[in-house]
Amino acid sequence: MLSRLKTFGAAAVALMGLAAVAGSAGTEDESRRATWRADYRPPEAIPFPESNPYSPSKAELGRRLFFDPVLSGDNTRACVTCHRPDLAWGDGRARAATRGSGDMDLRTPTLLDVAWQDGPLGWDGKFRTLESVARAPISAPGNMNLSMTEAVARLSADESYREAFATAFGDPTVSADRLEAALATFQRLIVAGKAPFDRWIGGDEAAIPETAKRGFDLFNGRAGCAGCHSGWTFTDNSFHDIGVGQGADIGRGRLMPTSPALRYAFKTPTLRDVDKRAPFMHDGSVATLSAVIDLYDRGGIARPSRSRQIKPLHLSDGEKADLLAFLSTLTAGADRDETSAVFPPAAPKP
Ligand code: HEC
Ligand code: HEC
Repeated sequence: MLSRLKTFGAAAVALMGLAAVAGSAGTEDESRRATWRADYRPPEAIPFPESNPYSPSKAELGRRLFFDPVLSGDNTRACVTCHRPDLAWGDGRARAATRGSGDMDLRTPTLLDVAWQDGPLGWDGKFRTLESVARAPISAPGNMNLSMTEAVARLSADESYREAFATAFGDPTVSADRLEAALATFQRLIVAGKAPFDRWIGGDEAAIPETAKRGFDLFNGRAGCAGCHSGWTFTDNSFHDIGVGQGADIGRGRLMPTSPALRYAFKTPTLRDVDKRAPFMHDGSVATLSAVIDLYDRGGIARPSRSRQIKPLHLSDGEKADLLAFLSTLTAGADRDETSAVFPPAAPKP
């Protein structure tokens, strides 16, 4: 027992002491759980970069642009076509639809908690900043199909947009940089709603069932999920090969060809609202959450690039059910206003 405890550090020992004083059972399991719970406290405010600070008028302009098909060549598509608030800011498809009849290679990722993504964006990290993403979907011929020059010309010709840019930026000039800044500001307000899990972290023991609490222990303990799906947003914002996907798309490996470990590495997705985001993975290849758990239980495809953290887990049926129950507690319920983008924690005062 001592040697097992050691791996969890002094904090675990200290908390265990406290639990004993408080007269609770004070078991080793409970103290580990208490230590882990501390890692999931919600942040107090949304982070905005110094280069693009928050203002309500900029966010409002970004909201309008996000929903406006004026940013597509034939006025049929907007960002919201694929990033839908009612589908946890994804589109519910295995892979995003092109403008023609086909599918793209990638599934639309959720935008939940995108403000906390401090690494590169996109499944393979092709985008350096949130600001720099927008021009890709806008100008891609298979997507919104509008050149940035034409986008700027259209908005400049619209009196109400010129006014909105003036309110947000001090003068009515429309530019690609301003358009990107406004869209990014709006997207940083897309924050996951409070889920039963958050109420449990906040101290409400009845907020989630015992089976989910056992799942939480597995998630942080033997199953090793928290090694990558870490913290309040359930992602390390990093890239791993978990042994899924065997097509031509080698993910981050294409951008980092000298690093064998990055072949088939894709970005760790958040697990917020995961119940609403099937099918899963960068290519939509895993249909259900149970199938995801079976994949991890098998350890995915064994190959040199597969993360060393991924290996067969040999979970019992009961343990799989516990993990599933835990994942279900990460989806915000009816207490969340699905149509508004601004969830707690509130945006900072301008
Ligand atoms: C046809 C569907 C579609 C449309 C329309 C669309 N997106 Fe996306 N979005 C995607 C897909 C697919 C990806 C993944 C791209 C990649 O990884 O290379 C993505 C990725 C992103 C990301 C990166 C998220 C992350 O976690 O890494 C952001 C941010 C984003 N889109 C914002 C936007 C904005 C802003 C617009 C409108 C200007 C937009 N999208 C329009 C499908 C779409
Ligand atoms: C080595 C890092 C790592 C570990 C450990 C890990 N994951 Fe993942 N997880 C990822 C990555 C990376 C992806 C996306 C892979 C892809 O799309 O190719 C992912 C995808 C997922 C998805 C799909 C989410 C979505 O939006 O598509 C779920 C659900 C998930 N993981 C749950 C778990 C669970 C449960 C465990 C523990 C049994 C776990 N993960 C362990 C890195 C990890």
